[in-house]
Amino acid sequence: MTTIVKLGGSIITDKTEYRRFMKHDTEKVVSMLSSLGDDLVLVHGGGSYGHIKAREYGIPGPINERSRKGFSLIHCDMLGLNAEVSEILISNDYRFISLPPAGFIFGRTRSYSAFRKYFESGFMPVTFGDVYVKSDTEYGIYSGDTLVYDLARIFTPERVIFLSDVDGIFNRNPKLYSDARLLSRLDEDATFQPSAIDVTGGIGRKLEIMKKVRRYAKSVYLINGLKPERLRMLDSPDLIGTVIK
Ligand code: ATP
Ligand code: IPE
Repeated sequence: MTTIVKLGGSIITDKTEYRRFMKHDTEKVVSMLSSLGDDLVLVHGGGSYGHIKAREYGIPGPINERSRKGFSLIHCDMLGLNAEVSEILISNDYRFISLPPAGFIFGRTRSYSAFRKYFESGFMPVTFGDVYVKSDTEYGIYSGDTLVYDLARIFTPERVIFLSDVDGIFNRNPKLYSDARLLSRLDEDATFQPSAIDVTGGIGRKLEIMKKVRRYAKSVYLINGLKPERLRMLDSPDLIGTVIK
C-alpha cells in the first residue's frame, strides 16, 4: 500500500535550538516506519534548521540582498538536515532518493514527474520543506505539509501520516488545558466547524491541510512521532492519534 509520511520538524529537531538534530528520535521513528511494510513517500520538515534563520532573514518576504543571503544559508541548512535523515535511512537499508524542492518548484511551476518515476522503479522519494522563489519579487517557504498535499494529489495514497510532537488534534490546546480531549476520529464535514475545535497557530494550518489531503487519500492521520510505536496501531480502534476517514 502507498503511504505518504510527513516527519515533522518537531520530531527530528529541537525547535528551540538552531540546527539541533534529534538523532535518537529520528532513528526510532525511521525504524518503526520500515516495519509498516508500505511503499513510502517521505517528506520531512525543517524545525530549527529552517524556521529560525527564515525569521531572521525575512523569508517569506521580498527579495533583497539580505534575504538572498538567507535563502542560500537556509537551503544549505536544509540539505544538512536531509543528509542527517539520509544517513539514518541508509542504516535502515532503505532504497531512496532525495529530491530537494529547488529542483522541481520555481515560481508557479511544479513538476513532480521524478517522484513518480523513482517510485515506480522501486525507490522511496524523499523531499523536505525548503525556501523557494515564489515570484520575481518574493522568496517563500514551501512547507513539508504543502508538499504532502501536492504529493497526495499525484499518488492518491491509501494513507497519509503526519508525525508531530502532539498526540493528535484536541478540542483545545493540550499544552495549555489539562482537560483537553483528544479527537480520535474526525469526520470531514461535521467536526471541522470552527467552533468545535479551538486550534491555534501551526496546528490550525495542519488541520486545514489534513482536511484537503483527505480528498486524495483514504485515511489521514496525525500521530505523535515521539511515540512511534503507535504506528503499529494504525488500523486499530485503540490507536492514540487522530484519523480522518
Ligand atoms: P511539525 O513540525 O511537527 O510539522 P508544526 O510546526 O507544523 O509541527 P505546530 O505549529 O508546532 O506544528 O503545532 C503543533 C502544536 O500546536 C502542538 O504541539 C500543540 O501545542 C499546539 N496546539 C494548539 N491547539 C491544538 C489543538 N487543538 N490540538 C493539538 N495541538 C494543538
Ligand atoms: C519548513 O518546513 C522549511 C523551512 C523553514 C525552510 P516545514 O514547515 O514543513 O517544517 P516543520 O515541520 O514545521 O518544522
